[in-house]
Amino acid sequence: MCGIVGYVGPKKSMTTLIDGLKRLEYRGYDSAGISIMNGKGVETRKAKGKIAALEQAISAHPLDGNIGIAHTRWATHGPPNEMNAHPHTDCTGTISVVHNGIIENYGPLRAMLQKTGHTFTSETDTEVLAHLIEAAFDGNLEEAVIDALALVEGTYGIAVISAKDPDKIVAARKGSPLLIGLGDQPGEYYVASDVAAILQHTRQVVYLDDGEMAILTRTGYEVCDLDAQTVKKGVSRIDWDLDQIEKGGFDHFMLKEIFEQPTTIQNTMRGRLVPDEGFSKLGGLNLTKEELQQLDQIVITACGTSWHSALIGEMMIEEHARIRCEVEYASEFRYRNPIITDKTLCVVISQSGETADTLAAMREAKRRGAKTLGLVNVVGSTIAREDDGGIYLHAGPEIGVASTKAFTSQVIALALLTLKLGRLRNMSVVKGREVAQALEELPGQIQSMLDRAAEVEKIAEEFVTATNFLYLGRGYNFPVALEGALKLKEISYIHAEGYPAAEMKHGPIALIDENMPVVFIAPHDSVFDKVVSNVQEVKARGGRVIALTSRDEPALHGKIDYEFRIPQTIDMLNPVLAAIPLQLLAYYIAAKRGLNVDQPRNLAKSVTVE
Ligand code: F6R
Repeated sequence: MCGIVGYVGPKKSMTTLIDGLKRLEYRGYDSAGISIMNGKGVETRKAKGKIAALEQAISAHPLDGNIGIAHTRWATHGPPNEMNAHPHTDCTGTISVVHNGIIENYGPLRAMLQKTGHTFTSETDTEVLAHLIEAAFDGNLEEAVIDALALVEGTYGIAVISAKDPDKIVAARKGSPLLIGLGDQPGEYYVASDVAAILQHTRQVVYLDDGEMAILTRTGYEVCDLDAQTVKKGVSRIDWDLDQIEKGGFDHFMLKEIFEQPTTIQNTMRGRLVPDEGFSKLGGLNLTKEELQQLDQIVITACGTSWHSALIGEMMIEEHARIRCEVEYASEFRYRNPIITDKTLCVVISQSGETADTLAAMREAKRRGAKTLGLVNVVGSTIAREDDGGIYLHAGPEIGVASTKAFTSQVIALALLTLKLGRLRNMSVVKGREVAQALEELPGQIQSMLDRAAEVEKIAEEFVTATNFLYLGRGYNFPVALEGALKLKEISYIHAEGYPAAEMKHGPIALIDENMPVVFIAPHDSVFDKVVSNVQEVKARGGRVIALTSRDEPALHGKIDYEFRIPQTIDMLNPVLAAIPLQLLAYYIAAKRGLNVDQPRNLAKSVTVE
């Protein structure tokens, strides 16, 4: 999704801004642009497509200066083209704005501005900001920004420069992440929507909260609210490294991230699992033992892949902690009238910690009196800062747009939560130890599958031209079927659906013929025998069966066309193991189709708009 980077300081800003944009590429975008302030005023270059196209536009018409703002745009209002790319300028070309988010009342604002003589050159909602600031400008940029934002409904993270009040960047946030970087050199400041954009220059950051504005100049920075009252902010230190957001010899980030999973799930468990006691220590819960024991309901809310891990969490918690648990799409939850009491725990799952619907759902749950618990990967993200308690995933930066390592870490975090809740309620120490031991075995088991990735690649070769896929599983493996199908469709553009295996005969079975590959997640678990019947139903209709099994199964002999062995574990942890070959299958099919695996079309890494 859209990205912002800005720089003010002693250096020429161009390289810093272009490098910053490249670090934001993973978020997904379809055009890019840059505005630089120099002796000639504000100069802007934009291009449709990738940053390389922007670089070409700049080399054709060079520009440089010490202050600048830059943007990668993911189209919302108006198609991706040069005209709609950010930055957007006012009528005089002296005010330049980059914006993440959506201005909901841009229609009436645009009409009002046009009536008073403003001329628009794009179809975007963002352009109204440039004209509103122009209309309000009376010599001081931050005052004009405050006046303009007072008229705006919607969400924004913005950075603004003006040749009429030069030597400063004004940034403001409401509902779209923004942070300030404190540079290593005196008088050097950055603004970015994502720390990845500036990490090569600084680790010292100040996160802006909603309703805050920052003014960056070569003499310092100031944060204030939208009434111009100064706000005191703490400085945070980023403790992950740039090489964590580089490919490290892999062809794609997604493949690197799949291969990182033995380590990333260990990081999720580190210091939390107490195997001897069959227990977990979760320091960030911020709930007393009594509060945890009194919970009468857990609601888990999330989107996409995180919603799939939520479904697995629901099964774990109900089975082992015996607490009623509901899973809701965040986008639905926020607009319903859900039953929430002060004994409800709302668990919010998000890799990015910035997903607009998930954040809004969490705020709604809080407003209704629930305690909120964030399972978040990105440290310092909005959900992580606003939840009542949290379990960081510690999976490290996930750059590939398709979520992989965050998913397995989410399932691990949910297993740790289940252990904690279960042992405070119904789970015996023996059961707790069994779960803890199975958790400890997972990293080695994942590694043993990754060592056989070539087997999955071979299966993938057979299906590069497939046009449809079905993924089937029962119990804990039903959400894995959904996740396997999502992974395939989002990066390979092959239509894929996940179903509970037994539901197939209530409709999808009509689709089965020799052209329909069907992936069965069929480890030797408590529902294995039932899955065998479903495999038979597919085979009888000529479908091509790919099965994930955990041991030689005589019942499947002659019924499966392709097989990949996954290690044996307890039912509730099967999803962690089964996800790995499904991620690899999607990856290899997409890579063999020659597609942009890390930045699939139309998708964004962090969906910060509704
Ligand atoms: C799929 C994927 C998305 C995200 C969803 C939620 O691979 O990445 O479905 O899972 O957009 O994102 P987070 O977890 O950041 O809230």
